[in-house]
Amino acid sequence: MSTELAYPPTGATADATGTTLVTGVRPYGEGEPVNVLAVDGVIAAIGADVDAPADAEVTVVEGDGAVLLPGLVDMHVHLREPGREDTETIATGSEAAARGGFTAVFTMANTLPTTDQPIIAEAVWAKGQTTGLCDVHPVGSISKGLAGETLTEFGMMARSDARVRMFSDDGVCVTDSLLMRRAVEYAAGLDVLLAQHAEDHRLTEGAVAHEGPTAARLGLRGWPRVAEESIVARDIMLARDYGARIHVCHASTAGTVELIRWAKEQGVAVTAEATPHHLWLTDAKLETFDGNYRVNPPLREDSDMMVLRDALLDGTIDCVATDHAPHGAEDKCVEFDHAKPGMLGLETSLAVVAEAFVRPGLADWRWVAKVMSERPAEITKLPGQGRPIAVGEPANLTLVDVSEDATWTVHGEELASKTENTPYEGESFSTRVAATLLRGRPTFTR
Ligand code: NCD
Ligand code: ZN
Repeated sequence: MSTELAYPPTGATADATGTTLVTGVRPYGEGEPVNVLAVDGVIAAIGADVDAPADAEVTVVEGDGAVLLPGLVDMHVHLREPGREDTETIATGSEAAARGGFTAVFTMANTLPTTDQPIIAEAVWAKGQTTGLCDVHPVGSISKGLAGETLTEFGMMARSDARVRMFSDDGVCVTDSLLMRRAVEYAAGLDVLLAQHAEDHRLTEGAVAHEGPTAARLGLRGWPRVAEESIVARDIMLARDYGARIHVCHASTAGTVELIRWAKEQGVAVTAEATPHHLWLTDAKLETFDGNYRVNPPLREDSDMMVLRDALLDGTIDCVATDHAPHGAEDKCVEFDHAKPGMLGLETSLAVVAEAFVRPGLADWRWVAKVMSERPAEITKLPGQGRPIAVGEPANLTLVDVSEDATWTVHGEELASKTENTPYEGESFSTRVAATLLRGRPTFTR
């Protein structure tokens, strides 16, 4: 029985033909501008004098001094297909991904029906390939129908044409500790990743906001930190004792960071992501009672945000993932208590990370490449993504405009997503994705 996870999975190579010349870009934002030549999906040459062969039909992407990064990888999005195509589809979500600089995304299993069988995973993968803007990797659910009762067939999904490599009930937590233990044992045998939405649902009944002074003053029911941390602690012990690789989705508290740091010191195979919104926003936003700020886990306090930032810088938190979660106005422009949790993220994430870390000089573009491309590709064991910008590597590339002209203001109605639930409406950012290439082919140019 082979569980070899080939790349690209079935059908992904068809578009990797042709020649593209990217001019005047600075790999990782370092050194003088160079040209990058991509032939048939692979980087063929890099250098100041590199030109396209005279006899080739060439697509030219002008870099104008842009920073060049490996194509971004997002291990946590919700593209809502199948089932809620009124809020996002694989096509619109892929467009948002390409515009945000992503060449691969992992779309969560909380679809309708749940992505709990090979046939659904294969349909998602195939649709992503037909759309052709971004590799859309389906995440399989851990439990059938996300009901938390019966495990799905990880092996069948892993061996399907979709090559499912990550399993998660995200949206809800795998509450039953015995089921989670069985999932860990099963995942260890197949070497697939388990991603947990850490939430003790008994502790969050009716909760809509972070449990703290702000929620108390505004009269909003609170979601305590312990609801996340208790599950993170349990899962770390399960990973320690039964061996699977476990990933903490949307880590949001200082205590979660402490637990992950401890686990890594013990050699437990745990990784974690933080979302741009937990790195940039706090529950101070709730003063507006704007439903666009409702999200799971909730926006926390300044002290949590600062610890998350430091943890991302020192590697305790491995990567950034958007948790892109489209919801229509009928579910967002309502009383805060009734708003559905979730925010758009694909088109704004690079700008937020740059604003929070690169602009103030806390990190450089190499680090951005690490937390938004290399680490997510490593954690998901995704070949062909998150690779060095070097000759012979796949030409999955993102250009970032860092010039003075790059400043832009977010408007939900201008985003490619079907919904407008961005938490950054009217906010300006100083860097912007200029172009994205998937296996050498431009999927977005500004
Ligand atoms: C997500 C969604 O809308 O599917 N919502 C959210 O608030 N993050 C589910 C999830 O990631 O938990
Ligand atoms: Zn979640």
